[in-house]
Amino acid sequence: MPVINIGSINIDYVHRVPHFPAAGETLRNLSYSAGLGGKGANQSIAIALAGGQVDHVGRVGEDGLWAKDKLTAHGVNTSNILTDNGASGHAVIYVDNAGENTIVIHGGANENLTKSQIANALDSAQPGDWLLLQNETNMILQAAQAAKAKGLKVAYAAAPFDAAIAAKMIPHVDLIAVNEIEAAQLADTMHMPVNDLPVEKILITKGSKGATYSDGDESFGVKAFKVTPVDTTGAGDTFTGYFLARLDLGDDPATALKIASAAAAIQVTRPGAADAIPTISEVFEFLETHK
Ligand code: RIB
Repeated sequence: MPVINIGSINIDYVHRVPHFPAAGETLRNLSYSAGLGGKGANQSIAIALAGGQVDHVGRVGEDGLWAKDKLTAHGVNTSNILTDNGASGHAVIYVDNAGENTIVIHGGANENLTKSQIANALDSAQPGDWLLLQNETNMILQAAQAAKAKGLKVAYAAAPFDAAIAAKMIPHVDLIAVNEIEAAQLADTMHMPVNDLPVEKILITKGSKGATYSDGDESFGVKAFKVTPVDTTGAGDTFTGYFLARLDLGDDPATALKIASAAAAIQVTRPGAADAIPTISEVFEFLETHK
């Protein structure tokens, strides 16, 4: 079944920096590059490279047509990516020598999705198909509600995190993917322990400490693989996309979690966001040598 991913497509402007600039500081970068990013696009590419089928629903400006082409080249169905008159979404990203980042995003075309675009995208979906959402486009609550009304399952990567938005999304969500800090903030907002959040499937990524997964039947964790990161941008997106794709392909959650963890481990050893996501054969090869 294809995953329908209503998600952002960004042009990532990446500056490698000796340290993050302080207020008032002007800093010369070490290097600069531009590439494909956006949490939605990164997740679509992760799903496709994991072996899954994915229909990406989004918007770019004329300046982002190359990004659409890149998604198509990776096997993502892009017939629901429309072109806007304005600019594409973009992100300005600083990456330091430890591979950590700070990111500022501009929504651009990502914030121009319409009700009819969502309706068209959901038109051919079948009950039981997955809809994936993040917080970088408009219309996510409406999309989740429309998908639930059609019997779809909704996966929600609650990033960039906003506790108030996440709390509104929760009643319409079957799987939530958050990092450790976001999980704690969400639990705090909803006045309950993380484990009691009213979502059937909860995926919590914990960076170098691994990840945990729980649903009504089981709860377990996976340790992170030890690697030396050069750029952690998009690692969470890789994890979520891979995990959802492998679940959708029929892997049990423990296997999906291990594969997703390996994919994210490889991804952080390479520069960039979407361009750093490994193929499933690279992931299987990695797992052979990292038992
Ligand atoms: O999660 C990483 C992504 O966040 C980057 O690719 C950037 O575009 C922002 O959306």
